[in-house]
Amino acid sequence: MKSAQGDRLISLAGGLPCPSTFPVEELRAAADRVLRKDGSLALQYTNTEGYAPLRAYVAEYFLKPRGIPADPDCVLLTSGSQQALDLLGKTLIDTYARVLLEAPSYLSAIQAFGLYEPTFLSVPATPGGVTPDALEKAFRQRPRMFYTVPTFQNPTGWTWSQENRTAAARLAQKHDVFLIEDDPYSELSYDEAPPPPLASFSDPAGTVITGTFSKILSPGIRMGWIAAPRHLMDPLVRAKQASDLCSNILTQRILFELLAEFDLLKHIERLRKHYRRKRDRMLEWLDKLMPTDCTWTRPRGGMFVWLTLPPGLSGTRLLRATQAYGVVFAPGRSFYAHGERDDTIRLNFTHSSDSDMADGLRVLAREIQRMPVDI
Ligand SMILES: Cc1ncc(COP(=O)(O)O)c(C=O)c1O
Repeated sequence: MKSAQGDRLISLAGGLPCPSTFPVEELRAAADRVLRKDGSLALQYTNTEGYAPLRAYVAEYFLKPRGIPADPDCVLLTSGSQQALDLLGKTLIDTYARVLLEAPSYLSAIQAFGLYEPTFLSVPATPGGVTPDALEKAFRQRPRMFYTVPTFQNPTGWTWSQENRTAAARLAQKHDVFLIEDDPYSELSYDEAPPPPLASFSDPAGTVITGTFSKILSPGIRMGWIAAPRHLMDPLVRAKQASDLCSNILTQRILFELLAEFDLLKHIERLRKHYRRKRDRMLEWLDKLMPTDCTWTRPRGGMFVWLTLPPGLSGTRLLRATQAYGVVFAPGRSFYAHGERDDTIRLNFTHSSDSDMADGLRVLAREIQRMPVDI
């Protein structure tokens, strides 16, 4: 994030949306209406669970249409879905817990859970998700929970197949493993719609799903949510109370006011078109520029391409080389709980302008070709 804000840098690093897509004027008008109508309530403390109409909105528009049990009382609004991950860590992990992750997995989930000092286990991610055989083997090591981003994964862009989802739901129930489905990207599909979320057919008592407004509206408003089984709501609410008492109620009310008038589905349709073009642009540049012994994913949604370097090259060293020319990306090593691989990098295609993207990839390709191989 720091490098993405540097004004002289070309950043392909963070998972930042394109700033031209933010509904600035609509949010300004919604803020004005809220402050005029409900100013004193919007500036007061509020309850920890979140603004009731917004919780009901999440249940109605994000859970119900996707077949997830949609009780607004089981929706907790959080300060971004990153806080959801922290609260889940606080609630479910102790020093003896084993936490199963895909390898690679979302870097900031590894950081959030890592603070509670679990033992991390990992299971290989593949283009179609985690296979039932690999998952069963991993579940035999008795993890307490399995954290997954099954749709347009960060960092790979991969999406689990329907078969792997069904098997995972069955196996989690059989082995009594708690499922955490992190789903910030499923609205951002550029080809076909992804399969239904795991949470729509896994054991409702043993599953949570988290979501966010960050990627479809604005990350600056810091508004995410957890849909949890009833028995987890109380511990989660207490964990959130200890963190921040409540999320920002002014923003919650402004967001709800915005959603009453704003056509979110149409906005998401526009985002898809915009990001589909950016994804295609990045893939075209990669095809044109990269040496033939590099490979990369062709994501059907989300924000990232995951590139595997030619044998013997290190993503961490490559970053040092490109940084000297003002180009940054996320080295793949940080997406492994034990830093076990350093031959991959993650590239974001949603944030930079077309010309910055092309210039950045040119520098990247040149430095890959120049870089001596590690022996
Ligand atoms: C997989 C995943 N989960 C959670 C988050 C956190 O997003 P936010 O806190 O903005 O909702 C991100 C952000 O990039 C992400 O990629």
